[in-house]
Amino acid sequence: MADMPEPILEVRGLVKHYPLTQGVLFKRQIGSVKAVDGVDFTLHRGETLGVVGESGCGKSTVAKMLVNLERPTAGSIRYKGEDITRLSGRALKAVRRNIQMVFQDPYTSLNPRMTVGDIIGEPYDIHPEVAPKGDRRRRVRELLDVVGLNPEYINRYPHQFSGGQRQRIGIARGLALRPEVIVADEPVSALDVSVQAQVINLMDRLQNEFGLSYVFIAHDLSIVRHISDRVGVMYLGRIVEIGGDAEIYDHPTHPYTQALLSAVPVPDPEAREHRERIILAGDVPSPTNVPSGCRFRTRCWKAEERCAREVPPLAVPAVFRGPGGPAAHDSACHFAQERPVVAVEAEA
Ligand SMILES: Nc1ncnc2c1ncn2[C@@H]1O[C@H](COP(=O)(O)OP(=O)(O)OP(=O)(O)O)[C@@H](O)[C@H]1O
Ligand code: SF4
Ligand SMILES: [Mg+2]
Repeated sequence: MADMPEPILEVRGLVKHYPLTQGVLFKRQIGSVKAVDGVDFTLHRGETLGVVGESGCGKSTVAKMLVNLERPTAGSIRYKGEDITRLSGRALKAVRRNIQMVFQDPYTSLNPRMTVGDIIGEPYDIHPEVAPKGDRRRRVRELLDVVGLNPEYINRYPHQFSGGQRQRIGIARGLALRPEVIVADEPVSALDVSVQAQVINLMDRLQNEFGLSYVFIAHDLSIVRHISDRVGVMYLGRIVEIGGDAEIYDHPTHPYTQALLSAVPVPDPEAREHRERIILAGDVPSPTNVPSGCRFRTRCWKAEERCAREVPPLAVPAVFRGPGGPAAHDSACHFAQERPVVAVEAEA
């Protein structure tokens, strides 16, 4: 196996609980929303980690903690070895520069009253040390060029651009401070399918050009496979399975991953014929009321009594430790098993 590059982000035991209150005049806390409830992963330099999972499983909350838009309730986020959740003031500002976010909706995330030049250059107001005032417009033009837009568009407004072009503007803004890590939260979900591939290809190219590391969040499993080196699958505030893209897509061992993959549309009719669709029972439980033990157990067809008692750790399951191979990756299931699901093509 090739040497893994060094870790750039190490996330351990990350938790975000929102208080759940009742009453208008006298607010009482009656519980908490466990939006993120113990997330662990490592992002290596230059790689793309895809994060997938159903709506409400906590993907955006993880993203916001990574870029410091939300403070974690517990846990640590190490950037090059330093826990950034404990930083403040100037030290925090210096680190934040290196971890930037690209948002989902290019229609609402760009201020309609600002020119493209001002939108892309705005980060320089907070970090003037990166670009002295006199040099900003030159830099913004260069950024426009880098993301495939005409630098002459610098004085236009967001409404004068298409959805795909707006997301290029969002990416240019994310690059303005020359970050090392980009956290992209559903960056192409709001775009037409025909435009999605262009933006993904752009992100691919920028990654190679600037040595970027990506956390790429999406609910579309085909897109995630296309761009990711490794993939983490989230369920109800936790990662339940994580590994290389072929390990997750071709050798899933967690029942939830298997169910998710079995629901991906398959274009090839023959493959469709051979595939078994796994229908999950019931709904996702509320994050205010998480099941004991394995949080997937209320929907799992393999659940046994042990699953209600013991939280399965995110680790290589004992059965696969001896034999090794592609099934030997982290999977939080007491009864992890391979169950190949014909699902997502390796290359779109
Ligand atoms: N500020 C908040 N206060 C209370 N609950 C919140 C808050 N933000 C998010 N939540 C809840 O936390 C859970 C996780 O939300 P989050 O937005 O992280 O999910 P997601 O995986 O990004 O979903 P989607 O795929 O729909 O974007 C949800 O149940 C959500 O309602
Ligand atoms: S630990 Fe039990 S309930 Fe959880 S996924 Fe595995 S078999 Fe299902
Ligand atoms: Mg989200």
